[in-house]
Amino acid sequence: MRLTDSHAHLDFSPFDHDRVAVIGRARQAGVVAILNVGTDLASSRAAVALAQEHDFIYAAVGVHPHDAKTVTPALLDELRDLARQPKVVAIGEIGLDYYRDLSPRPQQRRAFEQQLALAAELNLPVVVHSRDAHDDVLAILRRWSASAPKQERGVLHSYSAGPERLEEVLALGFSIGISGPVTFANAHSLRAVAAAVPLERLLLETDCPYLTPEPHRGQRNEPAYVRYVGQAVAAARQATTETVARATEANAARLFAISG
Ligand code: NI
Repeated sequence: MRLTDSHAHLDFSPFDHDRVAVIGRARQAGVVAILNVGTDLASSRAAVALAQEHDFIYAAVGVHPHDAKTVTPALLDELRDLARQPKVVAIGEIGLDYYRDLSPRPQQRRAFEQQLALAAELNLPVVVHSRDAHDDVLAILRRWSASAPKQERGVLHSYSAGPERLEEVLALGFSIGISGPVTFANAHSLRAVAAAVPLERLLLETDCPYLTPEPHRGQRNEPAYVRYVGQAVAAARQATTETVARATEANAARLFAISG
C-alpha cells in the first residue's frame, strides 16, 4: 500500500538519535511522500535541508503561532527566500493557538495574516494550525481567500473544529488533515468528520513526533504509523484502507504538487 504523510516534524530533536532509521521505516511501510513542516525559522531551514537530502520528503516553511512573537519583516524576507528553494511546496505551519497562548493573540493574528499574504504572493498553499481559535482562524481565512488566487488553498491540519464547521472550511477551498486522535476510543466527533469529508478533500497525517495513534499511543510518533490513521479513517467511512490511501496520496500530490 502507498501512503502519504502530509504533516511531519522529522527535524525535531526526538528524532536526533535515529532519524535515518525512522525515514527507512517510513519507506518500508509504503510511505511514498512526507511533507515536513517548519515551525520557526530554524526548523524551516532544517525542513528544507531534510527535503534536499531525501527524494520523497518535501518541505513547508513558516512560523507556528506559538512563535508568532518572533515574526519581523526581516524574518518574513528570510522565509520568502527559503520558500523559493527546491522542494518547498507550502507555507506552514501557520495559524492561531488560543489553547497554549505562547504568543500574544494580536501578534498571532498579525503573523498569520502576514504569512497568508506571503503564500498568496508566491502562489503556494498553506498548512494551517487552529486550536481553540476556530472563529478567528475562519474569519481570517474568509478575508484571505477572497484575494488569494488558488482554488485549492491548503489544509486545516490535525482538524479539530468538529463536524459543524466542516461545510464552511470546505467552501473556503481547504482540505481536512486527519491525524492520530481519530484512532482513540472516544474520538466520536473526529470520526464523524472523517466520515463526512468528501474523499477528494481528505489528507492523512501523523504530526509526528506528536499525536501517536493507537496501538502506539504514549510512545513517539513517526511517519510509518500513518497507516493506523488510514485504517481508522477507512473504518469510519466504511471504505477500504486501500481506497483511502490511494485518494489521500492523490490529494496530497495535487494540493502540494508533489509525487511519490
Ligand atoms: Ni504540526
